[in-house]
Amino acid sequence: MKKAKDKFVVFFSFTAIILWSSCNGQVKEKEKTSDNNIQTQKIIGGGCEGCELMYEGMPKNISSVDTSAGWFEPGEKLLVTGIVLKPDGKTPAKDVIIYYWQTDNNGLYSPSPEMNKKAERHGHIRGWVKSDAQGRYEIYTIKPMPYPGRNIPAHIHISIKEPVLPNEYYTDELVFDDDKKLTTAERKKLPNRGGSGILRPVKMNEMLVAEHNFITGLNIPDYPSPKM
Ligand SMILES: [Fe+2]
Repeated sequence: MKKAKDKFVVFFSFTAIILWSSCNGQVKEKEKTSDNNIQTQKIIGGGCEGCELMYEGMPKNISSVDTSAGWFEPGEKLLVTGIVLKPDGKTPAKDVIIYYWQTDNNGLYSPSPEMNKKAERHGHIRGWVKSDAQGRYEIYTIKPMPYPGRNIPAHIHISIKEPVLPNEYYTDELVFDDDKKLTTAERKKLPNRGGSGILRPVKMNEMLVAEHNFITGLNIPDYPSPKM
């Protein structure tokens, strides 16, 4: 009986050691892999939660002009247009993909039945433009509404993918200068990534028109220098 008990103890201990070392080995391997990734693959711009959703449903051919689903819905019509510039702030940057997503006229990221399921949390008012040879782009949409019951200013999210860079990065959200929720404290928090995102739209032909230029690389961590 004692022998059987001893055998059980030995078997249990042996199994426990195998399981422990096996799990531990996997963790170490993961850590090792993770460390290697950190060393060899620095994410330009630091990454962001949800930015990668820009690739979900992204068309192969992207125009410099896009009309969002929101344009055909209730809301104040808005054109956001401007030039994408190189880091010098002067030279137009062509073929830069700008992905935008925003709330609807109720302040919600409302999904639609036909939209890409993986991108549902960005809501159905999302789209892409690619800067043309002069760096120009046009986004026809509606003015987003702020989140209901919150003090966060209304905004349009932007993620940018440059053709020569390995990953996308986010810029300042596009916000509105006349938004009461855009307080002095909120303005101070803006990191000025890609340039100020504060829009000052003017009314033209029953539509708000906001000029906005992006400066690629501005205040983007780990953005490669031109010599690299
Ligand atoms: Fe948002």
